[in-house]
Amino acid sequence: MQSNFWKKLKKPIIVAAPMSGVTDDAFRLMLLKYGRPDVFWTEFVSVEGLFSKGRESCLEVLKFSPKEHPIVAQVFGSDPSYFKKAASEIEELGFDGIDINMGCPDRAIEKKGSGAALIKDVELAKEIIRATKKGTKIPVSVKTRLGYNENQINEWIVPLLKEKVAVLTIHFRTRKELYRYPAQWELAKEIVKLRDLHAPETLIIGNGDVKSLKEAQKLAKENNLDGIMIGRATMGNPWFFSNKSPDTKERLNAIIEHIEIVNDPKRFSQMKKHFHAYTKGFNGAKELRDSIMEAKNYSEVKKLIEKFLL
Ligand SMILES: Cc1cc2nc3c(=O)[nH]c(=O)nc-3n(C[C@H](O)[C@H](O)[C@H](O)COP(=O)(O)O)c2cc1C
Repeated sequence: MQSNFWKKLKKPIIVAAPMSGVTDDAFRLMLLKYGRPDVFWTEFVSVEGLFSKGRESCLEVLKFSPKEHPIVAQVFGSDPSYFKKAASEIEELGFDGIDINMGCPDRAIEKKGSGAALIKDVELAKEIIRATKKGTKIPVSVKTRLGYNENQINEWIVPLLKEKVAVLTIHFRTRKELYRYPAQWELAKEIVKLRDLHAPETLIIGNGDVKSLKEAQKLAKENNLDGIMIGRATMGNPWFFSNKSPDTKERLNAIIEHIEIVNDPKRFSQMKKHFHAYTKGFNGAKELRDSIMEAKNYSEVKKLIEKFLL
């Protein structure tokens, strides 16, 4: 039995959220350099895709550098047999854990019965967890929301806890809420109590709207949570986990460094999300951001930044 790395981490465990189209290998390298989280997550990949024509692109998403350990691969899908196969493969690739997405509200994902659609099929969700565990010895975790149309703590969260996953990460919103309304952190304590009752070994990580490392530590302490996951607040801010506030020059030089790591013209449009996030919070940010958004390639972006810093 491979050891459960989660048990060795100091609490609160502060982790970087999986964000498709954002937390790719290049952004994770930026985080590594400027302030690493306790655990990395990959962007999600389809378990079915891993064994079909899409295999090469899935494997591309699952690339990581040895410095990123501990790192968890996130997967989505709806067929338990594929989860079993994917779990073996992910262990083989050297990941420390496998995380099952049961919260993504994207219609294309839900249409196939994956992501948040699993909240409506508790029996299938349980089968998927069991099949994943059968495929591997690395710890299996789940990331989900509070419910589908409403909070379903007893109907959804409790059955998940009873499956004794290593970690349950909860974005404190329902599927219906998407990003509307503030995350419901007031439910954290109740969920931790249910964990103590049904699955004392399962760690609970809270997620939703956390803006700073200090806030993450406060929320963990106040609610007895084992960890906190941060997503959007890390965009444009690879210093997030170090608590450092970079000056404008450092921030803009980071864009150039990020571009040099990516170094792939095909990823230019995806990089615009990052450019947008980096160019905030300093004098002249809006004008620079607007001009960068019009840029056609990396060299135009670099020139705009160099000119701004003159
Ligand atoms: C662009 C983007 C992509 C995301 N992709 C994923 C994903 O692949 N898997 C997942 O579980 N959650 C995904 N999420 C949700 C985040 O992991 C997180 O649960 C959510 O953003 C709330 O946390 P935050 O308020 O700290 O951002 C994504 C969010 C964003 C903004």
